[in-house]
Amino acid sequence: MNQTGNLSAQLDEAGRLRHLLRLQGLSRTFITELLDRATAFQTEVGKPPARDNVLRGRTVANLFFEPSTRTRASFELAAKRLSADVLNLDVNMSSRTKGESLLDTIYTLQAMQVDVFVVRDASAGIPEYITENVIPQVSVLNAGEADVSHPTQGLLDLMTIREVKGTIDGLTVTIIGDIAHSRVARSLSEGLTIMGNNELRLVSPDGLSADPTLYPGAILTSDIDGAVEGADVVMALRIQRERIKEKANLMTGMDYHRDFGLTEARLRLAKPDAIVMHPGPMNRDVEIAGAVADGPQSVITQQVHNGVAVRMAVLAAVTESRQK
Ligand code: CP
Repeated sequence: MNQTGNLSAQLDEAGRLRHLLRLQGLSRTFITELLDRATAFQTEVGKPPARDNVLRGRTVANLFFEPSTRTRASFELAAKRLSADVLNLDVNMSSRTKGESLLDTIYTLQAMQVDVFVVRDASAGIPEYITENVIPQVSVLNAGEADVSHPTQGLLDLMTIREVKGTIDGLTVTIIGDIAHSRVARSLSEGLTIMGNNELRLVSPDGLSADPTLYPGAILTSDIDGAVEGADVVMALRIQRERIKEKANLMTGMDYHRDFGLTEARLRLAKPDAIVMHPGPMNRDVEIAGAVADGPQSVITQQVHNGVAVRMAVLAAVTESRQK
């Protein structure tokens, strides 16, 4: 297992999606087709959701070894709206608490004819490790891997940007917060690089800044006002305290909201038509002012809405790759 991943495992010989581990390694055309497919699955909030039979007879298992609201709920809804049987394993009540290994859990569910494993885990490399050990008929979708990758979040972020800005090319995108521990920033960065000539600005306080080798071409800074100025897209990130080992001295004496929060005053430095994004869960009035999160430039609920359509598109794509 390693952090770069065996990305060749993602596509089959015909170029169809077999597993989804990372956005890196996918082409602009491939991602555009996935986003188009997701758009076709969208209906307005308040109208009945889109439904399809493409997963009829298939079984999707959600294995979340870390907490989740959005990703888990949207994968479940996506699978059900495509007519799959859905298993949500309650990890805390599973036999893993009795010492059963991850692979034995996978083999047990595989024997029950699970077709797609949706996996979230706090350790890097787990989704890839599962792809190396399942039978060829089974797909694995990464639903959040340590600080490495969250590809369906990256896709829903790209979809939201495309919907509102009309393009994913030539944009200035500013991400503020705990970049060091953010799989969301990693996946969005990969997607922005694939989709066009975008400028990525990563803003964080000391101790939470990005490893520059993971973000080639990006501007890394602690100058939040300078980084927000003229941006088309501004995304705020939560501090991922669950991934920070040395908490004692972290940001001692700092007023985080004052120094690194996305406030109304700061947002006025961005382009007048800039959009505000946040992957959730949010800590209001810490990394983002409540008034900004609920304000006219916020597309945060649109991100959540698009998450179901993106996951329907990904589930449909891997299922197609299994059809003879
Ligand atoms: N954005 C995201 O992954 O949210 P959840 O942790 O609620 O799934």
